[in-house]
Parts: sequence; C-alpha cells; structure tokens
Amino acid sequence: MPAFRNIFGAALFLFMAAAAANEVDKRQVIPLSEHQRDHVLTEMRALLSGTRNILDALSRDEMAAVAREADSLGLGMAGKGENHLDSILPGEFMRLGMSVHQDFDNIARDARSIKDPKHTLRQLSEAMKKCDSCHAGYQIRVKERSPGVETSPAHGHQHHHQHQH
Ligand code: HEC
Repeated sequence: MPAFRNIFGAALFLFMAAAAANEVDKRQVIPLSEHQRDHVLTEMRALLSGTRNILDALSRDEMAAVAREADSLGLGMAGKGENHLDSILPGEFMRLGMSVHQDFDNIARDARSIKDPKHTLRQLSEAMKKCDSCHAGYQIRVKERSPGVETSPAHGHQHHHQHQH
C-alpha cells in the first residue's frame, strides 16, 4: 500500500509540475532525449562564444579574424551533426536555425570583401534578432521515460481513496 502512495505521489507531482510549467513558461516545448538536448545546447554555447569572439575581433578591427570566427558558425557548423535532428526538430525551428548559420556565412564573406566593421556590426545585430525570436518561442524538455509513473491521475486518485478508508 505505501507503494501506491508513492506512485500516486510521483504521478501527482509530475502532473502538477507539468501544469505549473504550462502556466509559467508558455513557449512551445520541444521534447528531446538527454543526448539530443545536450547536442543542441552545446551548439548554442558555441554560437554564444563565437559571437563574442567576433565582437572581440571587431573591437580591434581585425577583419580577417572576424571572418574566421564567423566561418566557424556558418552552414558548415550545421552540417556537422544536425542532420539526425532534422526529423525531430520543428520545421520552423530548423529554418530559423539554418538562416542564422547562413547569416554568419554572409558576415564572413563581407568581412573579407567589404572589411567594414560597422557593416559587420549591423549584420550581427540583424542575425541576433533570430537568436532572440527563437528563444522567445521555444523551450527544450527532456522526454519522460520512467515506466513507474504511467498511472493516470484519475486511476491513482481511486487507489488513494481506498487507501484512506
Ligand atoms: C532556431 C532556434 C534557435 C536559434 C536561432 C538560437 N537558439 Fe539558442 N537556444 C534555443 C533553444 C530552444 C534553447 C533552450 C532554451 C530552453 O530550453 O529554455 C537555446 C539555448 C541557448 C543557450 C543556453 C545554452 C545552455 O547551455 O543552456 C545559449 C547560450 C544560446 N541558446 C545562444 C544562442 C545564440 C547566441 C544564438 C544566435 C547567434 C542562438 N542561441 C540562436 C534555440 C535557438
């Protein structure tokens, strides 16, 4: 009997946690495995540090370094391992992501040909609107897979009453 109580408690907790999550964070949930989440977030951190490196090079007017850093965030970066996530990530999410990588390719190209830091700054600012809008729209959650909590809340509720009487 105490086992029922625990399962019920766990189910109720998850149920309430899910309800609370819906209320607090209204961004669309992308359910991923632990591995897939790690893959996406690792790329995200590379985008952040690469962007910082571009700013650092820009502050010293080193346009060759700007181009190098931007290259590493281009479509070549996307080609490295995202393909297996193609079918899992929402289409709009993929399009936005690819368009950011394309922006960095354009930044690299112009840093080599135009070599104007102000122009690069404007491009970077435009590209980063996409970081913003994607973060505003999506969140990643790790898919639940523990078999012990499959009891529906209604089912658990019944057991709970039997236990009390
Ligand atoms: C196509 C969608 C998309 C784009 C574009 C995007 N991100 Fe993200 N990013 C996400 C999602 C989804 C998360 C996870 C957010 C969550 O679950 O709360 C995330 C998380 C992050 C994190 C946190 C990483 C961690 O370890 O927790 C950083 C940093 C980040 N993004 C940087 C960037 C930067 C910088 C850009 C633009 C150059 C960018 N992202 C563009 C979707 C995107």
